[in-house]
Amino acid sequence: SPVAAVIPAAGRGVRLGPGAPKALRALNGTPMLIHAVRALAASRHVSLVIVVAPPDGAGEVKSLLDAHALPERTDFLVVPGGESRQESVRLGLDALPPEYGVVLVHDAARPLVPVDTVDAVIEAVRDGAPAVVPALPLADTVKEVEPATVPGDPEPVVATPDRARLRAVQTPQGFDRATLVRAHADVTDDVTDDASMVERLGLTVVAVPGHEEAFKVTRPLDLVLAEAVLARRRL
Ligand code: C5P
Repeated sequence: SPVAAVIPAAGRGVRLGPGAPKALRALNGTPMLIHAVRALAASRHVSLVIVVAPPDGAGEVKSLLDAHALPERTDFLVVPGGESRQESVRLGLDALPPEYGVVLVHDAARPLVPVDTVDAVIEAVRDGAPAVVPALPLADTVKEVEPATVPGDPEPVVATPDRARLRAVQTPQGFDRATLVRAHADVTDDVTDDASMVERLGLTVVAVPGHEEAFKVTRPLDLVLAEAVLARRRL
């Protein structure tokens, strides 16, 4: 079954500091979104990439894609996004042509994901998993706290989950199309990734090994790291 990728890129990127929407900010001179689109189109299995643009920025994103060299064997679509990441992904799914049975959802904010990670996710979906996430063990110990009402106030620690059983989850997350469409139709809770919506349906989500370079560009230091990774790749 052909594979399509949906790239939600409609976020403001407030945590990165003032400036353009996050996906449109440059990494070594090229917008983060273009890096992300190339990373997904690098897989020979991916034949369509749907970019979900900021609601008022679809024209700008279309021009951006036209201005950069992208693989000829891949089709590209641009649709306007929504208020939340969840809504943006759903708007991307609404634009998906019928022939695509496998869907990847990939954050524009993870511009450097290696193609081997993309292919590992696709392979696990094709092997029969309804939902697949790339995941890495944690370096830090994680604590659950009682969140302070005033930011910066001390927060009582409630629990320390066993670190060996925890994973940090990345994208692209891969799905059987019908499963993801049902999850987006049925699950209305606020979630931070697509796989958790499939979990709410009671279905099994599996994790495959992620990659350090698939990290999310969220804060200013992440931009420094991303540019260093790109510089190292060019050597
Ligand atoms: O905010 P966060 O880093 O979790 O955003 C993850 C991805 O979701 C980013 O690529 C961002 O552009 C996208 N997003 C979106 N629509 C929104 C909010 C976030 O497409 N309304």
